[in-house]
Amino acid sequence: MNKKHLCVFGLGWGDEGKGKIVDLLGGSFDVVTRFNGGANAGHTIRIGSERFALHLIPTGLIRPGMLGMIGPGVVVDPITLFEEIDQLLERGIDVAGRLVISDRAHLVMPYHKIEDKLHEGAASDKTRIGTTARGIGPCYADKARRSVAVRFCDLLYEDGLPQRISSIVAGKRASFQALFGQHGGLNTEAVLSLLDTARQRLSPFIANTTCWLREQIATGKRVLFEGANGLLLDIDHGTYPFVTSSSTGPHGLAAGSGVSPQTVQRFVGTIKAYSTRVGAGPFVSELTNEMGDAIRKKGHEYGTTTGRPRRCGWFDAVATRYAVNLTGCTDVALMHLDTLGGFDHVGICVSYNIDGEQTNEFPSDPHLLSRAKPVFEYVEGWSDELAGIRRFEDLPSATRDYISRIESLIETPISIASVGADRAETLVHDRFRNILSEMTNA
Ligand code: IMP
Repeated sequence: MNKKHLCVFGLGWGDEGKGKIVDLLGGSFDVVTRFNGGANAGHTIRIGSERFALHLIPTGLIRPGMLGMIGPGVVVDPITLFEEIDQLLERGIDVAGRLVISDRAHLVMPYHKIEDKLHEGAASDKTRIGTTARGIGPCYADKARRSVAVRFCDLLYEDGLPQRISSIVAGKRASFQALFGQHGGLNTEAVLSLLDTARQRLSPFIANTTCWLREQIATGKRVLFEGANGLLLDIDHGTYPFVTSSSTGPHGLAAGSGVSPQTVQRFVGTIKAYSTRVGAGPFVSELTNEMGDAIRKKGHEYGTTTGRPRRCGWFDAVATRYAVNLTGCTDVALMHLDTLGGFDHVGICVSYNIDGEQTNEFPSDPHLLSRAKPVFEYVEGWSDELAGIRRFEDLPSATRDYISRIESLIETPISIASVGADRAETLVHDRFRNILSEMTNA
């Protein structure tokens, strides 16, 4: 059996530190593949004094020699992509010849972003999702509608694309006018000119990535699949309707990258040592008090994509166990342990109380979930001095107890722990190091 491929994905509501883990593990892999989402994702990596924030380009491409792929399940905003390619080039990182974009991937068009903003602006406080305004939902909706979708292969080969675009834009303008009383500044010439630039700049990157990836695998390359957003934002299994519009877990990997589900053996789920959420929707372990503010301040909990303050709370073991069980997560990377340092005590949400009944199951019904109250357990806090620690066994005993308690609640080993933003500030369990080296030598 092929034992060379691994997936990193988020177990929460996004922002769980996937970028850092993809970057850390990247050295053991040759190819990194994005399979879902779009520029709503924000992956931050810090290497020494350098900080990179990427939204579309697979994070692993920061490593020299690594190959990257944007799969058919991703929705690509060409403007963000140009910006990222240019920003990396300015910092001496050239992705030309190393990045391929699926000819089946859909383009996020200017009208998708306009619709996202107009729709959110017109929504009531109860129905507003709090999207990233990156046009993700409208683009995936057009993908499902088919007739109005634009893919990279259309950009290259569709005769009459300008005529089709003109008619799509006319339809969108009319519908925006009818729904929102304005067309949001949408005009055909600007859209056509953007598509021309996209064709010129991106043609060299567009490929049949299904063949490309199969070839990489057949020639012995090790692939790291990089999930975006997080399992609790999954379109089918997340806290719907307060979710994103793609399949964010390993179940989205096969469809979104074009490989068999049997391709991958190791699934590393990332989650912070506390919980965060940006945007609206239920969040049972949320702390709307000084403790929540203190975690936000200490953890710099402001969105990479939107700059919005994130909602913070204690670690939600009920939601995380649900995410782990659903995805077949084999290893957990527990992030931001250092952020919890320096508090007298640390809480864990061990179960929910719904209408007087205690449960360990994460409700699928949003009405029940919105009535759930957290049942917290408190453990002793630990010192603020974790940054220099490099081995699990050197962590303070209270931190080790916290890790063990979470492992037993979520029934999955914590194989990686992060004690700071830098690549070096990461603890990798010997057990997982051995697994990685087996994969590398397979
Ligand atoms: P959309 O993906 O922009 O449509 O946003 C839908 C919901 O998912 C909103 O609550 C967003 O804040 C949230 N969201 C989407 N992507 C991310 C992410 O990468 N991190 C955190 N939240 C996200």
